[in-house]
Parts: sequence; structure tokens; C-alpha cells
Amino acid sequence: MPPTALRADSRRHAWVAGQLQRWQQLVHGDSARLASCGFPRMDFCMTSPPFMPRHHRWNPLFAGDPRKAGYALYLKQLEKIFAKVAKILKPGALVVVQADNLRHGRIYTPLVRDMSMAISETLAPHGEIIVRWKPAKPDYLHTHCLLFKRA
Ligand SMILES: C[S@@+](CC[C@H](N)C(=O)[O-])C[C@H]1O[C@@H](n2cnc3c(N)ncnc32)[C@H](O)[C@@H]1O
Repeated sequence: MPPTALRADSRRHAWVAGQLQRWQQLVHGDSARLASCGFPRMDFCMTSPPFMPRHHRWNPLFAGDPRKAGYALYLKQLEKIFAKVAKILKPGALVVVQADNLRHGRIYTPLVRDMSMAISETLAPHGEIIVRWKPAKPDYLHTHCLLFKRA
């Protein structure tokens, strides 16, 4: 699957593939094209989508394509991607999404809430786990792992 809309990180892909026995099953590509991967139905999904501050125009889900700029389109694309994820999950499958709220000076992006609302269009909210770092990081106290279930 060619990573057209993806800011491809092929070095990461190569590193992860090097840790796996069945590395041939590791796909490097755009999650928006999930349907064409031929994956079997899944029991579990764990992911951390690229984060976007609400005042940016550069949309990471489209590698900054100016025709797809802005936070509204970013959230819409997240919604579409998770609708595709839902299609390849087994009923009752659990989805874990790691996300953070963002602060840039005075501008605050409630990304955890916004991401949760986008994903909840197709997956049922199931809970949230707050992960605190050990050792503590003074400027990054915790992160959020949002839980969803496929109906
Ligand atoms: C917040 S980071 C998650 C990093 C990951 N948790 C890790 O530890 O390596 C978001 C990742 O999504 C990837 N990404 C960006 N756009 C994507 C897309 N359309 N489809 C799939 N992955 C994408 C980025 O390359 C980046 O590696």
C-alpha cells in the first residue's frame, strides 16, 4: 500500500519490522486506506494518531496538503478513519487511543475531548485510563488512553 497521504516514517517501520518474527504482516501506509489492506477481522486495536493543534492549518492526516487544511477537516478525517477501523473489528473488540490535550502559549486545544467525540461517531466510549510517567516529567505529567468498544 503506497503511503500517499502519509508523512511516511519508513525508518520506524523498518525498526519495528526488525523486532518481529512475522514482519511480512506489518503494513506501512495511510490508515485512510485500511480497507485495501486485506486484514482479517481484529480483536484489538491500539493507536496514537498524529496530534493537531486547533490553530494550525497543516493537517498531519494529509501530510499538510493545503486543500485539506485546518482542524475541522482533521477531526472529520479522524472520524472517517475510525469508521474504517470499526469495519475490520470483531464485535466487542476493544480500541485504545492515546491522546493529549495541547497548549501552545495561550492557545489550548482540547484534543482528547475532540478526538473522543470524532471516534464516538462509530465506536462506543468505554472508559479512559490516565497514564502517569515514572519518573515524573515536570512539563508532561500524564497522558490519556481512551477506550472504545465495537458494538
Ligand atoms: C502521535 S505519533 C504516534 C507514534 C507512536 N505511538 C510511536 O510511539 O511510534 C503519530 C504517528 O502517526 C503517523 N501517521 C501520520 N499520518 C498517518 C496516516 N494518515 N496513517 C497512518 N499513520 C499516520 C505518523 O507518522 C506518526 O508516526
